[in-house]
Amino acid sequence: MALKSLLVLGLLIGCIALPLAQAQLGGLGGLLGPIFGLLRIQGILFCTPNGNVGVSATATPVFPNALVQLQCGGNVVSTATTDSSGVFSILMDPVNFLLSTLLSGCRLAVNTPLASCNASLPSVGGLASNLQFVGNTVAGLLNVANLVPTGFQFNANLH
Ligand SMILES: *[C@@H]1O[C@H](CO)[C@@H](O)[C@H](O)[C@H]1NC(C)=O
Repeated sequence: MALKSLLVLGLLIGCIALPLAQAQLGGLGGLLGPIFGLLRIQGILFCTPNGNVGVSATATPVFPNALVQLQCGGNVVSTATTDSSGVFSILMDPVNFLLSTLLSGCRLAVNTPLASCNASLPSVGGLASNLQFVGNTVAGLLNVANLVPTGFQFNANLH
């Protein structure tokens, strides 16, 4: 009986401790530290042959209404649409996704043809980028692990 309740207690602690450990990835605020964690993938898509910013950021047109997919192991796990400023943001629950998995096994893919923002750009193919971690933002009990694209590349065979 005692052994059984110990086991149950152990399981309980495990269930609480694991998300906590993941939420605290990297940036511990205080002694207690943040309790809730989020992974945020954010970026701006530009209307250029490779989707990246040109020499002058203010002069580079953005790519609005583009569907940005987060693909992991070939599967689409989340999507976002760029707004009128070309900005996209994808939030992930760190209980389901480890930062290391996002960095090593996932990528962003944009299948919306570049021609939809500039008719001189290709109407087939798409853009793809790996992800990089750029630091944690701690706000009270919330810890946000920030990820951004390493840089998009045009891929004529992207699907
Ligand atoms: C459209 O794309 C072409 C080719 O990259 C570029 O020369 C042109 O300046 C772009 N037009 C606009 C309005 O951005």
